[in-house]
Amino acid sequence: MTPRSTAFVLFLVIGVAAGIAVLGTNPPRSKPIALAPSTAPSAWPDYSVNGPGFVTPAGPQGELITLGYRLVTQTFAIIGPEAPDPAKRFAGNNLSCQNCHLDGGTKRSGLPLVGAFRKYPWISSDGKHEVTLRDRLNECMTHSMNGKPLPHESREMDALVAFLKFIGDPAAEPSTAMPHPPVLASAARGAEVYARVCAACHQPDGLGRRLGSVNDGRGYRFPPLWGSDSFNASAGMNYVSIAARFVWRNMPRGVDPIHPQLDLQQAWDVAAFLHAQPRPPGPAAR
Ligand code: HEC
Ligand code: HEC
Repeated sequence: MTPRSTAFVLFLVIGVAAGIAVLGTNPPRSKPIALAPSTAPSAWPDYSVNGPGFVTPAGPQGELITLGYRLVTQTFAIIGPEAPDPAKRFAGNNLSCQNCHLDGGTKRSGLPLVGAFRKYPWISSDGKHEVTLRDRLNECMTHSMNGKPLPHESREMDALVAFLKFIGDPAAEPSTAMPHPPVLASAARGAEVYARVCAACHQPDGLGRRLGSVNDGRGYRFPPLWGSDSFNASAGMNYVSIAARFVWRNMPRGVDPIHPQLDLQQAWDVAAFLHAQPRPPGPAAR
């Protein structure tokens, strides 16, 4: 068949199928199935609790993209250490990607994943090797998630990449450096900030507060900031400047860079305090 006649046959088949669907005996649904267009969002998406949220896109990739979204938002439940399938326990802690990549990676100030797709692959600074999105994503698996890399050829990896591609159309947020603090950061002053501002949610012992109980695979209401279930020593969040920037712009949860609650000095001090707390060693030190 020529491509044209193939298209025509396809057209007929779809037409007949649609006819059957319309005339079929199914009672009318009270609620239409919400399917977003199969095309990726061209504007910056908003998957925050107050926004329109994520909707499964139509098209053959819809299911895979949805799995990717679930992996970002409920990592612990699918590939965490308490996931039902032991063979899928790739992450070493019960965090979710969105504990850091806020709102499913759509919060501009919260380490957004929107637009990340188009940055890859890039060439390493020594010019010797190519860094693919799969490589970069596994950096977060082995450091932020303190776990094992996802096999490059796995459904979970494909799903994450499909999701990142889906939200990858808008331009990435330009990265702004964190201004230096007025005086050198002090972990001792940071401990006071922690007790006064952070402990209410992340708990005085820094171990966070679970949604349910240990081993139920439901993750945290307030994630741990140190201890055995936290990111490890070689994670990006264990760099004082990265943590200071994240905390200043996003913590307590709900603030934004236009209305920060901490001043610059407090953000750096509390980041220095976090850095001084015990956490799992990085893979190189294991
Ligand atoms: C503990 C915090 C934390 C967690 C949890 C985390 N990440 Fe990250 N991630 C970071 C930091 C920090 C960066 C570096 C951001 C930068 O360089 O500005 C990063 C970078 C990335 C990047 C590269 C983004 C870019 O623009 O180049 C990707 C992709 C990514 N993470 C995916 C994930 C995925 C998927 C998960 C869950 C499996 C995850 N991360 C979990 C903190 C985290
Ligand atoms: C009102 C509760 C609340 C307060 C107060 C709060 N946080 Fe958070 N924090 C959260 C929540 C919830 C998350 C996870 C975000 C999500 O999943 O949407 C989070 C995530 C984080 C993360 C990244 C995830 C991780 O586990 O490492 C860091 C770092 C962090 N907070 C530091 C702080 C610091 C430092 C303070 C004090 C200045 C603070 N937070 C105050 C609720 C809070």
